[in-house]
Amino acid sequence: MKTPINPEIVDTKLAACEIKKMEDATIRDVVRVVNMIEEESGEKFIRMEMGIPGLKPAKVGIEAEKQALEDGAASAYPMLEGIKPLKEEGSKFIKNFMNIDLSAEGIIPTVGSMQGGYAAFMAVGNCTSEKDTILFIDPGFPVQKTQLEVMNQKYESFDVFNYRGDKLKDKLEAFLAKGNIAGIIYSNPNNPAWICFNEDELKIIGELANKYNVIVMEDLAYFAMDFRSDLSQPGVGPYQPSVANYTDNYILMISSSKAFSYAGQRIGLLCISDKLFHRRYDNLKPRFGADEFGYTMIYRIIYTLSSGTSHSTQYGLAAMLKSANEGNFNFVEDVKEYGERAKIMKKLFLDNGFDLVYGNDVNLPLADGFYFTISYPGMTGPDLNKKLLYYGISAICLNETGSMKEGLRACVSQVGRDRFEDLEYRLKEFHKHNHVMA
Ligand SMILES: Cc1ncc(COP(=O)(O)O)c(C=O)c1O
Repeated sequence: MKTPINPEIVDTKLAACEIKKMEDATIRDVVRVVNMIEEESGEKFIRMEMGIPGLKPAKVGIEAEKQALEDGAASAYPMLEGIKPLKEEGSKFIKNFMNIDLSAEGIIPTVGSMQGGYAAFMAVGNCTSEKDTILFIDPGFPVQKTQLEVMNQKYESFDVFNYRGDKLKDKLEAFLAKGNIAGIIYSNPNNPAWICFNEDELKIIGELANKYNVIVMEDLAYFAMDFRSDLSQPGVGPYQPSVANYTDNYILMISSSKAFSYAGQRIGLLCISDKLFHRRYDNLKPRFGADEFGYTMIYRIIYTLSSGTSHSTQYGLAAMLKSANEGNFNFVEDVKEYGERAKIMKKLFLDNGFDLVYGNDVNLPLADGFYFTISYPGMTGPDLNKKLLYYGISAICLNETGSMKEGLRACVSQVGRDRFEDLEYRLKEFHKHNHVMA
């Protein structure tokens, strides 16, 4: 049975990278081993393991950054709280695309949402002494749990698969009623499943956050990328759905990486609600020397982590947001390609014996976007992950993401349309060799 990639090369490189079980391989482990297999075999993989934006960044951002560098931004330390134009455009952006009022003061640039999350966990986990645990509504972005492990902070999680819609309330409340949960985190649209919480679900989360005095960290890494509705028009609904409509206890994390294809510049916005920004927590004082939430975040946590965020990049993001706010730059249109690719790629998988793992949003079929999840009958996620390597297809196991389901996360961003023919051929070969007769 000849497979598209020489199995000996795959096995040797897995051993060289000390990957004994695929369920233990992180995203970066898979990236490394596939790089090595590609080099040795001379074959290009269909790479679906990592969410690297595969599109060009917005020109308006690059031009503004160049100008900022010409104007001397490189030699000056940026203010910790961020440059004024970015804070102001960020606040307008949230009004225009979410219909939420949030003052410029609460908009803080961070070195990607990665740093935003780290800083948020640090603050949220230390506000109240008995509340020392972060709750993940999984599946989720694996490295956020690693961040908590690095900080020696506690977390709990559950897979939302069986708890969509009304069922979310009791499940969530069972965690919150214990009294140890400081904050809740989820991404919406979701990495890895691309599920999107609907208004009822966000209302449940927001109302329970109020009832149990818990801070919600809403990770909007894929802002406005639920392409089922047009969220691209400034000041015109429908808007990016948000828990901010139901609680004041929230932090939004808006990444520039995917929506603006700006991952390399490492900038995101941590957006703290007006009420939370000014709220004082006695418990913050002994740890950070200050008790106001917003002040602690900026002048203790962001200060000590990185002394702010790259100066010129702040000008780049400010220019992109301004252009989007003024209706001159439709950032959603630029990334719709991901949804179109997903639609075609999902069909190729489904036509070749695969199933979708997370297939709907309560009563709606799932949107097509940056990720989708797949399984193959009779195979565990790790088995499937490894077998697909012999066919030149790489992805990550869902167990990495806190999912209780067997399957893989497939990311469409690095798979250009010119690779679809290869993908189809490889999937056909895989199905021919692996399907079990009924
Ligand atoms: C859900 C989620 N949160 C955060 C991030 C990190 O974003 P950034 O590149 O802004 O650090 C990602 C990136 O893949 C993500 O998927």
